[in-house]
Amino acid sequence: MTSALSKVLLFLLTCLATYMWIGYTITELTGGEKIATGKVEITPEGGETIFWGKGRCYTCHSLGGEGSAVRCPNLGQFGDRFELPIGARAVERAKERSEETGRQYTGLDYLVESLAKPDAYIVEGYKNEMAIVYAPPISLSLDEIKAVLIYLQSQGGDMDMATIENPSEVTKEYFDRILAATAAGGGDPGNGEVVFEDYCVECHRIAGNGGEVGPDLSNISVKGQRFISDSVTAPTGLISEGFETWDVIQHDGRRISGIKKQDDSDGVAIMRETGELISIARSDIKEVVADESKSLMPDDLTEALTIKDFQDVQAFLMMQKQESSEE
Ligand code: HEC
Ligand code: HEC
Repeated sequence: MTSALSKVLLFLLTCLATYMWIGYTITELTGGEKIATGKVEITPEGGETIFWGKGRCYTCHSLGGEGSAVRCPNLGQFGDRFELPIGARAVERAKERSEETGRQYTGLDYLVESLAKPDAYIVEGYKNEMAIVYAPPISLSLDEIKAVLIYLQSQGGDMDMATIENPSEVTKEYFDRILAATAAGGGDPGNGEVVFEDYCVECHRIAGNGGEVGPDLSNISVKGQRFISDSVTAPTGLISEGFETWDVIQHDGRRISGIKKQDDSDGVAIMRETGELISIARSDIKEVVADESKSLMPDDLTEALTIKDFQDVQAFLMMQKQESSEE
């Protein structure tokens, strides 16, 4: 009797232990409570989860002895090459940045810059290969980036939550850049600037540089993402005032189209899509007619651009909000 009862008890206890062991193992395997759920907390722990998870920082960076990536700068203290962990190292790099740019950089400014515009400073011995972590496929939000920043600062630096929430001028510019890129569907404004130089600058000016065929885009972000996108996908649907296309028909039958820059008793000046300005004397002109069906802006630009380039150039334009700089 007694031995039967103890056998049953032993059996029950074994079952219980097995269940507990299975439960524990599953929690371990799935990373336990470290799994990110929705909104990130702007704390070193929140940033740690992103660094070793969604942010994919660990695929390129190790942190001291943690991690196995060797291609990119170690962000901890590591050998002779990295004598300071990144929180403290950032303060040293900030001094270099202050000298190079003539603006006052703090350690935090340096960290923000290395995430927002990694090509601004390339660590010696490495290439410009840092991922744009707020663009696809990683697509970190600004809050996730703030969490990563506080985590990086916690590596040997002073954690400065107050300044992250109430940023300096340099940091604020970079935060705006990240927000603009996120608002534009997560493009990379750095590449967007390159796309702009390749496809748009011959006709459009930003801050005094570029062609004069199309409108100045120095302040284009105020018109919003949707407007920018529509202007490129369907230019004729949305011709900006003062940039309508006109046809000048001469007595000899020649026809010149472009944007009308001058129209008075002397004659008419027309700017072609190449930027060339042609003056036609009043006496040669038979007729000047508006051509509402066409914009001088090419309507096949979206075919020329990859989807990524199109997204990137929109992100770049969403950052343009300086006062228009007409000389
Ligand atoms: C595709 C690889 C790659 C990924 C992913 C990546 N980085 Fe980098 N990172 C680099 C490279 C390469 C450099 C060095 C070149 C440079 O300075 O831009 C660098 C530089 C840095 C620096 C400056 C280091 C120093 O010594 O001054 C910081 C800080 C940094 N990365 C943080 C991060 C964080 C945080 C993430 C994740 C959110 C991340 N990186 C994701 C490749 C990567
Ligand atoms: C051959 C000249 C030309 C090129 C190249 C060109 N554009 Fe335009 N763009 C124009 C002209 C002309 C207008 C005004 C007529 C109109 O709105 O369609 C215009 C209008 C715009 C507008 C609306 C501006 C406003 O304030 O109303 C945006 C935005 C724009 N272009 C973006 C771009 C982008 C981005 C590219 C490159 C991917 C580009 N354009 C390439 C000539 C050009």
